[in-house]
Amino acid sequence: MTQVRIFDTTLRDGEQAPGFSMTPEAKLRMAKALAALKVDVIEAGFAAASPGDAQSIMEIAGTIEGPVICSLARAVRGDILASASALAPAPRKRLHLFLGTSPIHREAKLQMTRDQVLEAIRTSIAFGRDYFDDIEFSAEDAIRTEREFLAEALSLAAAEGATTLNVPDTVGYTTPEETYDLFRFLDGAVDRPKGMIFSTHCHDDLGMAVANSLAAVRAGAQQVECAVNGIGERAGNCALEDVVMALRTRGNLYNATTNVDTTKIMAASRTLSQITNTPPPRNKSIVGANAFAHESGIHQHGVLQNRETYEIMKPEDIGLSTEGIVLGKHSGRHALAARAKALGYMLEGEQLDETFAAFKIVADEVGTVDTARLVALLSEAQTHR
Ligand code: KIV
Ligand code: ZN
Repeated sequence: MTQVRIFDTTLRDGEQAPGFSMTPEAKLRMAKALAALKVDVIEAGFAAASPGDAQSIMEIAGTIEGPVICSLARAVRGDILASASALAPAPRKRLHLFLGTSPIHREAKLQMTRDQVLEAIRTSIAFGRDYFDDIEFSAEDAIRTEREFLAEALSLAAAEGATTLNVPDTVGYTTPEETYDLFRFLDGAVDRPKGMIFSTHCHDDLGMAVANSLAAVRAGAQQVECAVNGIGERAGNCALEDVVMALRTRGNLYNATTNVDTTKIMAASRTLSQITNTPPPRNKSIVGANAFAHESGIHQHGVLQNRETYEIMKPEDIGLSTEGIVLGKHSGRHALAARAKALGYMLEGEQLDETFAAFKIVADEVGTVDTARLVALLSEAQTHR
């Protein structure tokens, strides 16, 4: 089985989306949740974007152990140097260099010819080589780039020393069939040294980011770029929890697996929801409040006989514990706070008071407050803050 690397961009592509910006303290807290998940790479930010972002990357680089820490940079010296100094304290540092390669990016945004784009790739990777443990090159808008030129640009990046070649669907335009076909083409067309890997980075504008990422894996990609709760530019990035659980549940179809500790998924999702004040929709796959809740009588009956009648994954697999304290109208604040913590919600002070009051009302109505109802209540309490 191939070990697919999980490159998490919650703190960069995710954070740059409207409504998801985070303070440096919040980013550090989230980085700890990502390290607990055991993602392979944390893209901590875009150092040249602002002094605050650079500072935040530096704090993460100096605190987090385990994953490679990465900063995004344009193909210019100033960005590369800003990334180098922000990543200085990291035990393992990655530069993520990107440049648009599609005709529309070259002509409308960059005003560069093909040769100028190639020259910028060559000089910026050559310049960055000595500052980082490894370099990833992203051909921005790869999906809309002429195939032969894309292969030329990626071959050049590999020749200059990039060890990860990322093929982003920047605008969320592709389909699983097209993705599979493109990655198979690149596998044959890109000259690359041994050890160099292809990466996929999909946006969800047409709702296909996860399916496209899986198609890339089936075609040989060894790194998936994704974000917790699927946050990211516009409709978001490929959702980490979806792609990881798809590989865990159906990995034999892809001959692939990941290093992620899936039992930490719920905690990471809840941490992000708390930090950004934005819970995922109730029906969001894997982490939504309804994802493991069975409401209809027929489903409840089936699940009571055998969970597998309606469940393809166990709640425990993502850290949604079903055991432990039974919560009801006689339960106290400590029990509620402890159960909430086990589900990834840190309740303190006023937030605990308000949630406890709401919990008592529900407990009076239903008797035992089961996990699904509790998660719904906790998510609601968060939305109303
Ligand atoms: O979507 C995109 O193309 C990006 C690149 C910077 C990798 O986020
Ligand atoms: Zn992106």
